[in-house]
Amino acid sequence: MIGLSKIFPPPAFLTMPCIGVDISDTSLKYISFKPSSKQGGDRVLDLWGDIDIPTGIVNRGQVIDPTKLVAVLKEFKTATNAEFIRVSLPEERAYLFETSIKRGTPLKEIRSLLEFRLEENVPIPSKDVFFDYMLLPGTSDKRSVEVAVAAYAKETIQQYYDSCVEAKLHPISFEVEAQAVARAAVPHDATGSTMLVDFGKTRTGIGIVYKDTLLYTSTIDIGGDMLSQALRKVLGSDVSEKELTQLKNTQGLVKGVDSSEIAETLLSTISVIKDELATRMQYWHLRNGGGDDRRITSIQLSGGSSNLKGLTTYLTESLKVPCVLANVWENSFDLNDVVPPIDKRHSFGYATAIGLALYQSS
Ligand SMILES: Nc1ncnc2c1ncn2[C@@H]1O[C@H](COP(=O)(O)OP(=O)(O)OP(=O)(O)O)[C@@H](O)[C@H]1O
Ligand SMILES: [Mg+2]
Repeated sequence: MIGLSKIFPPPAFLTMPCIGVDISDTSLKYISFKPSSKQGGDRVLDLWGDIDIPTGIVNRGQVIDPTKLVAVLKEFKTATNAEFIRVSLPEERAYLFETSIKRGTPLKEIRSLLEFRLEENVPIPSKDVFFDYMLLPGTSDKRSVEVAVAAYAKETIQQYYDSCVEAKLHPISFEVEAQAVARAAVPHDATGSTMLVDFGKTRTGIGIVYKDTLLYTSTIDIGGDMLSQALRKVLGSDVSEKELTQLKNTQGLVKGVDSSEIAETLLSTISVIKDELATRMQYWHLRNGGGDDRRITSIQLSGGSSNLKGLTTYLTESLKVPCVLANVWENSFDLNDVVPPIDKRHSFGYATAIGLALYQSS
C-alpha cells in the first residue's frame, strides 16, 4: 500500500526504524515495533506513548498554532529520540474519490491521467493538491481498472510537514487516518466492505474499506467529550472526568435498576451518531448499486470512547450489521502469543498509530 508516500519521496533508508505518529486535535500518539527475539515470533512493541495536545493548537485537523505544535513534536522527539516518522492526516481534510482507467495503462502515465480527474472530483485547483492512489485488485471488467484516489490541499500537508521538520523529525509518509486503522485492524480475508468507526474525544471518524483500500471517509463532530457534557448536566458540573469515564465504561448504555437515567442521557447523544452511521451506510449501498460484493458486512469500533459499555450491542441491534470492538493488534501479532504492554481499554485509541507503524514492516 502506498499511502501518500509519494508526495515527499521516501529516501533510501527505508529499513531505518520508523515510528507511527497520530496527531489529532487533542493528542499525539505514537507506536513503533521491533522484531521479536523469539525465533519465528512476530514483531513486538518497541515504543509507545500518548502526549496531550492542549486545545487550540490543532482544530478539526487544521494546524492553528504551528509554534505550539512544534513544541509538542519536540517533546515527542525528546521522549523517543525519533528521526523518521510516518504521520496520519485528518479525515476532515481528505478528498477521496474512485475512478477507473484503461487496463494496461503504463505506470508512468497513471499520475498525469489522474491529475486531470482531480478537477472534477476535488473542489480545489489541482495545482494546489497533493494526491496518491491505489489500484483496486481483481475487478471483473477486463478493460478497466478501478483506482482509489486520496487528495489533500498542499497547504494542509505542508503545515504538518513544516512543523515536523522544525522539530528535527523527518516525515517519510503521510496517509489518511482511517487507512492506517484499516491496516492495523481489518483482517486481510475480510469479505465485503468494513465500516470503521473511530470514536475519539472530540470527533468520530468514519471510514469504509473494501479490499484493504479506504474508499470513503467522513467525520461526525461528536466524541467522548460530548458524552461527558451530557452526563454533567444530570449529575452536576463538579463530577470529575475520571468518574465519568468510569460510569461510561461500567454502566454506559446498559439500563440497570438505578442507572437508567445515565443510560438514557448517553443514548440521546449516541443515537445521533447511530443515525449518522445509518445515513452513511445507506449512501454507500446506494452508490454501489446494492451489489453484494461491496455491502458492509461489519462495523469495527476503535478510539478511546468505544469503551462505552453496551455500544457494540446497541449499534448491532439498531444498524442490523454486526458491530465489534476492533482488535487493533489484528495484523501486528497473535494475541495468543504476545501480551501487549498497552491494556485493552487503552489500546483502542492507538489503532491509527499502530497502522502507521505497520506500514514498513508489512
Ligand atoms: N479506558 C479508557 N481509556 C482511554 N480513554 C477512554 C477510556 N474510556 C473512555 N475513554 C475516552 O476516550 C476518549 C479518548 O479517545 P482517543 O484517545 O481515541 O481520542 P483522541 O484520538 O485523543 O481524540 P480525537 O480523535 O477525537 O481527536 C476520551 O474522551 C476518554 O474519556
Ligand atoms: Mg483519534
